[in-house]
Amino acid sequence: MAVTIHGKRLPLPVLQGGMGIGISLDRLAGAVAACGGMGTISSALGGFREPDFQQDPQGANLRALDRQVRRAKNAARGAGLVAVNVMVATTQYADSVRTALKAGADAIICGAGLPKDLPAIAAQVPECDAALAPIVSSGRAAALLCRLWERHGRLPDFMVLEGPLAGGHLGFSPEEAKAASSGRPNPLHRLLQEVLTALEPFRQKCGRDIPVFVAGGVQNGADMAQYMKEGAAGAQFATRFITTEECDASDAYKQILLRAAARNLTITASPVGMPGRALRSPLLQRLAEGHRAGPEQCLRCLTPCHPAQTPYCISRALMAAEAGDWENGLFFCGGSVCAKPALTTVQTELEQLMNEWRAAQ
Ligand SMILES: Cc1cc2nc3c(=O)[nH]c(=O)nc-3n(C[C@H](O)[C@H](O)[C@H](O)COP(=O)(O)O)c2cc1C
Repeated sequence: MAVTIHGKRLPLPVLQGGMGIGISLDRLAGAVAACGGMGTISSALGGFREPDFQQDPQGANLRALDRQVRRAKNAARGAGLVAVNVMVATTQYADSVRTALKAGADAIICGAGLPKDLPAIAAQVPECDAALAPIVSSGRAAALLCRLWERHGRLPDFMVLEGPLAGGHLGFSPEEAKAASSGRPNPLHRLLQEVLTALEPFRQKCGRDIPVFVAGGVQNGADMAQYMKEGAAGAQFATRFITTEECDASDAYKQILLRAAARNLTITASPVGMPGRALRSPLLQRLAEGHRAGPEQCLRCLTPCHPAQTPYCISRALMAAEAGDWENGLFFCGGSVCAKPALTTVQTELEQLMNEWRAAQ
């Protein structure tokens, strides 16, 4: 059941997915790692609660990230691993990777774009030896990244394969994302085989495993067991950790998620240039009707975003969601969502997952 990642032991085959903005910070990531999983801090505008955020967002983000990694590592007490999720599409991508490495992150996980140069950025911090992992959505992307990383003398230490039922940004067309929502068989099984086949030559070349964790609509531990029988090293879960006491979001945000169900989900176009899965909220309704809400004060956070043309500021909308502002928030949410009567704890969620996993052996 334990997985070895870049020479370090991960006792549980469970990753908690990074969730920006402010949903998975040190409290959630530290709690997951303390229970033996991999907890993930999202680096996306993680300094939004810093007093100088409006004047110096970039400085605030890096300062906060450094502190969050150290706190999560302290909370983990060496039981599990602490990762940082960095979106390639953010303007602070390279700075965030370097900051996370210097603060002692066990792993860097990059998605929302192809992290072609991640090994080169990591090499700028030679004293750190963290695992590096891309998030991919196809065998083609997995093979391409391996070929690009080989030029830097490195191969991924593990990979996250995100299927079209994930929450947040998706590496699929809106049609594929909608088809997945409409109850068609989950293509994650086929994608897993594609990725494993694509990785095989690279595994042979480097003489070690490249563990693959599946993500996106993995419902429970029995589902995880099935994917593991099909060759996955484990699974990444995100949405189910939002309704825990340790989740870093506001209580108002968690209360909204407690009532959410799969029928409340929709696919929206994100200013990042990718479709995203989120709760159908008043903001998305207004956008669908053609209303525009461009940024009042641009934070210059996303490389592909054009403030003059963007229909809305995704960062402000995600921060509004974190605060529980139902009218103005963008509530990213995975296809695995189901209504719950009350908040749980990280320990309860992980015990439940592992009990279901054991029962399915
Ligand atoms: C609220 C929320 C925010 C997310 N933010 C990010 C993010 O910043 N970066 C990222 O790579 N993935 C992000 N994701 C995707 C998750 O990390 C994860 O892979 C996916 O949601 C797993 O599916 P599940 O939520 O059904 O378990 C987000 C998901 C949610 C629900």
